[in-house]
Amino acid sequence: MPALREKVTSAAEAAVWVKDGMTVGMSGFTRAGDAKVVPFALAERARHEKLQITLMTGASLGNDVDRTLTEAGVLARRIPFQSDPVLRNAINRGEVMYVDHHLSETVELLRTKQIAPIDVAIIEAAAITETGAIIPTTSVGNSASFAILADKVIVEINLTQPAELEGLHDVFIPKRRPEREPIPIMGVEDRVGTTAIEIPPEKIVAIVITEKLDSSSTILPPDGETAAIARHLVEFFKKEVKLGRLTESLLPLQAGIGTIANAVMSGFIDSPFEHLRMYSEVLQDSTFELFDAGKLDFASGSSITLSPEKSASVFADIERYKDRLVLRPQEVSNHPEVIRRLGIIALNTALEADIYGNVNSTHVQGTHMMNGIGGSGDFARNAYLSIFATKSIAKGGKISSIVPMVSHVDHTEHDVDILVTEVGLADLRGLAPRERAQVVIQNCVPSPYKEMLEEYVAEANARGGHTPHVLEKAFSWHERYRETGSMLPNRHASDR
Ligand code: COA
Repeated sequence: MPALREKVTSAAEAAVWVKDGMTVGMSGFTRAGDAKVVPFALAERARHEKLQITLMTGASLGNDVDRTLTEAGVLARRIPFQSDPVLRNAINRGEVMYVDHHLSETVELLRTKQIAPIDVAIIEAAAITETGAIIPTTSVGNSASFAILADKVIVEINLTQPAELEGLHDVFIPKRRPEREPIPIMGVEDRVGTTAIEIPPEKIVAIVITEKLDSSSTILPPDGETAAIARHLVEFFKKEVKLGRLTESLLPLQAGIGTIANAVMSGFIDSPFEHLRMYSEVLQDSTFELFDAGKLDFASGSSITLSPEKSASVFADIERYKDRLVLRPQEVSNHPEVIRRLGIIALNTALEADIYGNVNSTHVQGTHMMNGIGGSGDFARNAYLSIFATKSIAKGGKISSIVPMVSHVDHTEHDVDILVTEVGLADLRGLAPRERAQVVIQNCVPSPYKEMLEEYVAEANARGGHTPHVLEKAFSWHERYRETGSMLPNRHASDR
């Protein structure tokens, strides 16, 4: 389109469209498909002039974009997810106002004008079609709605992203309520939208050409503990199949971000399950390992985030996987209606969980933000089976991941069916709080925290109640950690 060719410009020129005080929506979801050059031009401008913005994305960004914007003082407000250590520290110092959303909800709030509207969208593209539609790259995230809802759109065409990405995406935008119709996804592989983001081409005010790669994922390879978590889950699913509750292809799987969820999914390679399907958010290395092992038939997600090795092999030959993959807007990949209909088995990670099954996925010691709730709430609340995994201890045993009472609640006991650590698995379905406490302590907690929790529960039960607690001691482990650097009392300190 000749009119669009005239819009090709430098990152610095494009960045001029962003003014102090604006709300900017950028592409990018778990380090995939993020805008990679205009954000740096914004940081550069902030050296010479006042420039503070509200930044919304799909989820976390790569290429040190969040770090650079934080260090340049550009971020006044950040929505809906992040995982950058520098930004995290600025959030925890109270310098950046962070709004931690369920990932399916951000564009619902924007669409209905419940939060400040997007002034400028900056979207990475593999290409722009003849009709001016934007072909996303390795994520869809919130890009489509940002582009549709923004006044102005800047496109970063990334020449390193394979042209074969065209056709991978399924852009479906739900109607406004109350006119909304059911989302017609009846199976993980259903395509219900368009392959590109369709907006009036005149909204595109600048096009920047880039050649920067996506950042690779930071997940660590499976270790003894994550392998044990995977084994417990495989044994659990085998029993469910034996009992006739699931078939050998289980139900569509969702796996959360991070090392633990990825390792657990890799554990399915050596399982008896066949013809697996995923309806998830981020597709990590394990998705492609499962494809290559012939275990996985189809994967639906919102982004693809891989290690350097996996990225090289997958994107060099994306055609090999393309007919078994679809990337959707995150409000569709994470939509409660679809998750409930398909019967998803959701696997997410806890920072800490308590004896009754409440889960904290976000706040270290109750106050300090780690990453954010991400899509874990979208999935856990609506899943057929909601599983939370965590290593039983952190920081060399100074922290127990299972505590008397979680110091922050992201997922209530009502949304947690299974809790699993490397020690074992607690099946909480159908259990009352007093029973849940026993099962969690006996199955998931190692000594000496196990005995400490037994003592706590005995004292709590003596006081009575449906969900017994010794309230003045409920956070005593967290307090001890703050004061001494360990949740273990002195009498156990020498044990470790
Ligand atoms: N207290 C303090 N720190 C803890 C902790 C606790 N109870 N439990 C774990 N940690 C620390 C670990 O020591 C590790 O620290 P390090 O990075 O300094 O080594 C870090 O948290 C990550 O823990 P790890 O055990 O390696 O797990 P992970 O990489 O799988 O990440 C979460 C776990 C919870 C941080 C991550 O899954 C997350 O952010 N989840 C929320 C969002 C989400 O679930 N999204 C998915 C929806 S699709």
